[in-house]
Amino acid sequence: MSSETAGRRRTVAIAITGASGALYATRTLAALLEQGVHVELVISDYGRRLLRDELGETATVDRLMPYLVQTYGDRVSAGKLIVLSNRDLGATIASGSHGCAGMAIVPCSMKTLAGVAHGLSRNLVERAADVMLKERRSLVIVPRETPMSLMQLKNMVLCAEAGAIVMPAMPAFYQLPRTLDHLADFMAGKILGALGFDHDLYPKWTGTVAGTTAPAATARKDTE
Ligand SMILES: Cc1cc2nc3c(=O)[nH]c(=O)nc-3n(C[C@H](O)[C@H](O)[C@H](O)COP(=O)(O)O)c2cc1C
Repeated sequence: MSSETAGRRRTVAIAITGASGALYATRTLAALLEQGVHVELVISDYGRRLLRDELGETATVDRLMPYLVQTYGDRVSAGKLIVLSNRDLGATIASGSHGCAGMAIVPCSMKTLAGVAHGLSRNLVERAADVMLKERRSLVIVPRETPMSLMQLKNMVLCAEAGAIVMPAMPAFYQLPRTLDHLADFMAGKILGALGFDHDLYPKWTGTVAGTTAPAATARKDTE
């Protein structure tokens, strides 16, 4: 791996937009930061609202790093978190020359999905996603809506055809989740895997439920 590629592996862009599922975003952020990743974060106006509405006042943007440390532990401090303005189209991640290995939009609203699908670049989230696609770097899109209209389905196809990994917020239940955190761990693990990171956010499938032959309802160890 060249030093340039190695440098890129350590910088990842995360976008939070106004779809339900802020917990997926904070879990993904924490898991990347625990690995010492430099995260460049951009949050849309409705993303900011959803963070506050779903996770509470302590999770607001200006208190996000303390929130992540308090919620996920001190290991989060191994990484670096920088928050960029969604209005700043001159920010680092707006340029292909910036050493950013990949990007995840988690959660991704249908509005932002449409903007990415049509290359609109109206704000930094859309512009950075456009950069990832044109530079052939990893772009993970985590849409959340149900049911979906034909336009929304077609927009996902357009993004996939352009090279994005479209990963709807659909946690699995064969991992026997017992808490919301287990569900978020699953999606965060999927996102990290798609961005090329190893992780132990959920048990790897071994052919039986949670690696045992126990009945599904009792197989997962409850760590709470
Ligand atoms: C409480 C709340 C929940 C929402 N949930 C979703 C959702 O799950 N999916 C979605 O596409 N839009 C959802 N929306 C609507 C988006 O936030 C809205 O379309 C917004 O304009 C998206 O803008 P953004 O992509 O710039 O964040 C929600 C809005 C609110 C207020």
